Amino acid sequence: MQEDILKVLYSEDEVKAIVRRLAKQVEQDYRGKNPLMICILKGAVVFMTDFVRDIDDYVELDFMDVSSYYGGTKSTGEVRIIKDVDTSVRDRDVVLVEDIIDTGATLKSLMGLFSHRGAKSVKVVALFNKPSRRQEFVAADYVGETVPDEFIVGYGLDYAGKYRNLPYIGILKPEVYAN
Ligand code: PRP
Repeated sequence: MQEDILKVLYSEDEVKAIVRRLAKQVEQDYRGKNPLMICILKGAVVFMTDFVRDIDDYVELDFMDVSSYYGGTKSTGEVRIIKDVDTSVRDRDVVLVEDIIDTGATLKSLMGLFSHRGAKSVKVVALFNKPSRRQEFVAADYVGETVPDEFIVGYGLDYAGKYRNLPYIGILKPEVYAN
């Protein structure tokens, strides 16, 4: 697996430091609020498990799996729910936990959905932001790092379902996805 990586963008220690910084920001802002952390599967699952363990306060966890509808090259801004949350979000402080914001389509839809369902607040923590590919005007409230328009994998991010278990963030060799 490692031989498919062109370059390490963030080492395991660097990723851990980014995650910890985000967790401490959220811990401070949500003190006493018992926020509902919603992990957007599957990419965010590795981030989520480290992130919540760096928060020294009460939080609850839930999980959601969605996929975007695309019409041509542009997202329609709708998501198809593959697995919904089990928890009622009414009057809850919701924190959406994402690994990366790319076009922004997923985030735009989910923020609208949870507001419509009566959440008290909806904020987003994203480990990475790739603004070069944005199609929707959305922004995360807590962002780890801005990344270049490269094919990055690891720490939950995949190519064709693989590399999610790499403990660091790497840039994939072009020949891997050119075939
Ligand atoms: C990725 C990522 C975000 C979404 C961001 O998920 O985890 O949820 O894409 O892209 P967007 O800003 O263009 O909507 P993906 O659909 O690849 O599924 P996965 O997390 O299961 O890999």
